[in-house]
Amino acid sequence: MLRVAVCVSGGGTNLQAILDAIEGGTVTNAQVVSVISNNPGAYALERARRHGIEGICVSPKQFGSRGEFNRAFLEKLDGCEPDLVVLAGFLVVLPEMMVRKYKNRIINIHPSLIPSFCGTGYYGLKVHEGALARGVKVTGATVHFVDEGTDTGPILLQQPVMVRQDDTPQSLQRRVMEEAEWKILPRAIDLIANGKVHVEGGKAVIRWEETPAPVDGE
Ligand code: GRF
Repeated sequence: MLRVAVCVSGGGTNLQAILDAIEGGTVTNAQVVSVISNNPGAYALERARRHGIEGICVSPKQFGSRGEFNRAFLEKLDGCEPDLVVLAGFLVVLPEMMVRKYKNRIINIHPSLIPSFCGTGYYGLKVHEGALARGVKVTGATVHFVDEGTDTGPILLQQPVMVRQDDTPQSLQRRVMEEAEWKILPRAIDLIANGKVHVEGGKAVIRWEETPAPVDGE
């Protein structure tokens, strides 16, 4: 059983999608053992509590320096003994020592088709504002392994979403969440939990032959 720690900062809709997928059986061999947030007011912590999952808050504001926060955060995470760390709407730059310690065991959901509209400054609504400003016709979401960079690690899954002429950043964000994020993040966890993924030469490799590829709209 894959022990999953989910890191959150906001509403937790991606966390909810994971919990629902595990409960519904579309994600197997995995359990969320803890939810960690940097934001004490994150509704994601309430979603965890409703599922009987330990909600932990480690906020940079509690510490005198970034280094102290980094050490406290890593200590809390280690205490959960996760096999996989999932960044689900987590807006904190990870300590380098954590990325090294959990190499190829941290995944992140980003609301664009990386390498578009990603990197420093592209998070939340800003991603969709960028897509609309550029006038792209297709956007989407990406699950990738986390490395020392920002949104630069090996790409694991992507899901396209058509942009509509009348989209606002808010309507586009909502559709990307519904049609992409909430589908590919649970699917990525299921693939990892069932041993179908490895990283080779800086690329994520999925053994689809043992796993049916997703049917469009699934
Ligand atoms: C979403 O736009 C997600 O793509 C980004 O953070 C936002 C909030 O996610 N990573 P959630 O509702 O807290 O899961």
